[in-house]
Amino acid sequence: TIVGIKARQILDSRGRPTVEADIELAGGATGRASVPSGASTSRAEAHELRDADANRYFGRGVSRAVGHVRGEIASALLGQDAADQSGLDRRMRELDGTPQLERLGANAVLSVSLAACRATAAARQQPLYRRIAELTGTRTPMLPLPMVNIFSGGLHAGRGMDLQDFLAIPLAATDYESGLHAIVKVRDAAEGVVHRHGAPVLLADEGGLSPGCASAEIALELMVEAIERAGLKPGLDIGIAIDVAATALVGPDGRYHLAREGHDYSSAQMIETVERWVRRFPIVSVEDGLHDEDWSHWPELTARLRHIQVVGDDLFSTNPARIRRGIDIGAANSALIKVNQNGTLSGTLEAIATSRQAGYATVISARSGETADSFIADLAVGALGGQIKIGSVRNMERLEKYNQLLRIAEDPEVGYAGTRFLACDARPA
Ligand code: PGA
Ligand code: ZN
Repeated sequence: TIVGIKARQILDSRGRPTVEADIELAGGATGRASVPSGASTSRAEAHELRDADANRYFGRGVSRAVGHVRGEIASALLGQDAADQSGLDRRMRELDGTPQLERLGANAVLSVSLAACRATAAARQQPLYRRIAELTGTRTPMLPLPMVNIFSGGLHAGRGMDLQDFLAIPLAATDYESGLHAIVKVRDAAEGVVHRHGAPVLLADEGGLSPGCASAEIALELMVEAIERAGLKPGLDIGIAIDVAATALVGPDGRYHLAREGHDYSSAQMIETVERWVRRFPIVSVEDGLHDEDWSHWPELTARLRHIQVVGDDLFSTNPARIRRGIDIGAANSALIKVNQNGTLSGTLEAIATSRQAGYATVISARSGETADSFIADLAVGALGGQIKIGSVRNMERLEKYNQLLRIAEDPEVGYAGTRFLACDARPA
């Protein structure tokens, strides 16, 4: 039974306010959770409630969301059974009364949803991933395959490059720690490569480098060089993933503006361009190659790239109805899963289940603005997410999650997914 709910404004990895909640149960167990925040967002995401008081944190304060947790949400949930996760989440959605949690704020609702799960795990003296495995009926929890940021552009690096993420995936490693080790080698080698090319080695929002290459092809060449300099084989030991984050490129004219490259593409030209990159480089996964409302062209993109993973992030926005729409038309073969795009833990689990039932891969993902909360590491294991995307192996708000996976790896009953769930034919058997 929930006997206490507290909330406060804290700062995230970009120094911007976010919501943290504490839940206390009758037996004395407690759970704390905080909420991440994106920079390249979709209009289809659950609503992040900000104060819009220009004198406080540039209008980004969250005191109204905190007030809603302390007020309406606490009134509705005190005395309720914290173990009834879907009941709690349903109550909060009903209390809010809008489809995207616009009134109370998805940041308010999510902080309580995640904290309740953690408090229940604490009360039962269970690791969080075990509690999540129970909620999802997962019998074989597994550590996810990491997809790790090496170079950043787009809104995470002052638009120094048009594409948002160039990532590395360990394809050959047979356990999580070896996979992470291979990635650390690539990330270190990338720093040397960027330095030799005379570009700055300062960190972008997710701890990756931001070399500001003039084109995606040049950045992909640097990725290959970094993998080789790390003593690893591109395409065999390490696969490349990209997040085009095309929603941030599209103009009011519906065309894709790659300003740094000096191109202005139609959807068809964007698809051809992505296909050219995939032919030339060992790319195993492409995220948001088209924007979040370009539904009519996504099936063509996926058909052309059918041998590799095609991930919808902004397109699906962790919204089960949008994922179902995508499945019906063959829009992609994989969904990115972000807890705050949905707004509740139950809704996020439904998005994962909807994807998996249709044979879609899932990638559990952090946001570019993060806190030290490692909830998504346990989520990826317990809900059998298969893959995880946290940013680079720099900055504690990222490493806290990679390190939590190292802790979970000590459980001999938890295996490693490896490339099993990667939606890509090219993966080694
Ligand atoms: P965001 O970036 O958190 O800024 O949305 C992450 C992503 O696009 O995958
Ligand atoms: Zn994305």
